[in-house]
Amino acid sequence: MTARSRSIVSRQTGPHENLSSRVERALAHPLRKPLAEHTSEAFLGAREWLMRRAGAPLILDAGCGVGLSTRRLAERFSECAVIGMDRSADRLSRDHGRLPDNALLVRADLVDFWRLALADDWRPARHYLLYPNPYPKAAHLKMRWQGHPVLPVILALGGALELRSNWRVYVEEFALAVTQATGVPASAEPFVPGETCLTPFEQKYHASGQSLWRLVVELPHDPGLVPAGVGGER
Ligand SMILES: C[S@@+](CC[C@H](N)C(=O)[O-])C[C@H]1O[C@@H](n2cnc3c(N)ncnc32)[C@H](O)[C@@H]1O
Repeated sequence: MTARSRSIVSRQTGPHENLSSRVERALAHPLRKPLAEHTSEAFLGAREWLMRRAGAPLILDAGCGVGLSTRRLAERFSECAVIGMDRSADRLSRDHGRLPDNALLVRADLVDFWRLALADDWRPARHYLLYPNPYPKAAHLKMRWQGHPVLPVILALGGALELRSNWRVYVEEFALAVTQATGVPASAEPFVPGETCLTPFEQKYHASGQSLWRLVVELPHDPGLVPAGVGGER
């Protein structure tokens, strides 16, 4: 990966005018997308792995890419069980060294994995969304996690939720969505990584001199946020 990377270009310079109605909709209408079989199987494997870690606090690394952050989080929080999920088999297969025993990489669609995790009463202590695809075109709001129908599930899992992005608007929108859905105050803050970046995308943006943004919020586990009917069969 080269160090040079262009900043996000978007006509959207502030939170999307339809964000609030998208969040309202997600809180009111169940998500009925059927679960993909491969993610259901992957979830069962992850569940078995987690049960063998006997009560270790759980960390989710959602959209982990090549899994570098999963490895680093597992080293940093050695008492925790860290699960990195990504839909890209290609990214997950890249060799970034041995996985620590307390880390697992899973190929899964997050939209399904999150729902299965909530239905199984998972309660992550920490939940990372590191540099999600920004979808900067205004018309793509519903593909950003804050505009997606799965948002209530992400929030309902609870724990210390941390989002990082090189697009300020993404983090500002997510903060507004968190507060609208949960009532918990949240805001975007500038972020300068330490000596070691947590992910390759962070490394690339930082090395290109781009500003980075993050949101950290402690959320209660609250399945009641999810509209009825958003069970495993959706
Ligand atoms: C911009 S990359 C960031 C990867 C990594 N977190 C990093 O910072 O280097 C976004 C990642 O999210 C993954 N992703 C996007 N949507 C997903 C979904 N619905 N389910 C699972 N992974 C998804 C992509 O495959 C990609 O690896």
